[in-house]
Amino acid sequence: MKKFKIFFYILLSLSIFNTIKSAEQIDPIKVDWSFKGLLGKFDRASLQRGYQVYNEVCASCHSMQYLSYRNLGEPGGPEFSEEEVKAIAAGFEVTDGPDAQGEMFTRPGRPSDKFVSPYPNVNAAAAANGGAYPPDMSVLVKARKGGANYIYSVLVGYEDPPPGVILDEGVYYNKYMIGNKIKMPNNLSDGLVEYADGTEATVDQMAKDVTTFLSWAAEPELESRHKTGVKVILYLVLLSILVFLSMKRIWSRVNPEE
Ligand code: HEC
Repeated sequence: MKKFKIFFYILLSLSIFNTIKSAEQIDPIKVDWSFKGLLGKFDRASLQRGYQVYNEVCASCHSMQYLSYRNLGEPGGPEFSEEEVKAIAAGFEVTDGPDAQGEMFTRPGRPSDKFVSPYPNVNAAAAANGGAYPPDMSVLVKARKGGANYIYSVLVGYEDPPPGVILDEGVYYNKYMIGNKIKMPNNLSDGLVEYADGTEATVDQMAKDVTTFLSWAAEPELESRHKTGVKVILYLVLLSILVFLSMKRIWSRVNPEE
């Protein structure tokens, strides 16, 4: 009887612990990203579409201050052509200066310019978003536990709040956000952007593409790192074979019969 009681208490505490845990945050959806694993590579077309989603949807709130337009043309990234990068940069108005008169002025962007930020500073960004600051997205994938899976999950995780949960004005219910409350509205809806390559712009597709783009931004050297990894492994395999053969050779001079 006593044993049964202890068992019962263990079960009870486990289930309480689990409910507390799941109320806080549930595990993000696992996506089979092309860039995961030892030989992982970014999907070039997805990176280009992801930039389009960032630019047309997210960039009105989120900055990416560590990126320059020329990064969009560099190997291992979206690899837009030089002409395309120039055209993308020229589409932005960049504040420069001061000129000889001490005045700031605006001019069309150049590939060497950093991504233009939507707000002049953090306070302005928070003030425009009900007090919540849209985080800079340059390294967001690295800054969040769960990485790409988590970002993707938040983008597709909007739901009606369960009965009993009352949300303040400007607060939304999201299954994957810690505490389930987020001050970012659901920005994605089917057909929101028109992809240049003809891919159908479903919510799921846009979420995957923009997350791929953000993953590259957070780790632009991923592909070259993977290439180096493969080279190192090949080198070690060859080295082991050589060592093995020379060991055989050296020991072959020792005749066990003698
Ligand atoms: C209308 C402004 C707005 C737009 C557009 C917007 N966001 Fe946000 N985003 C916010 C705000 C505000 C927050 C902070 C929310 C909070 O802390 O509750 C946020 C937070 C986030 C977070 C972080 C969640 C966390 O764990 O802190 C991610 C990821 C994110 N946004 C991705 C995106 C992506 C991708 C896009 C484009 C598809 C986008 N956002 C478009 C305003 C916006």
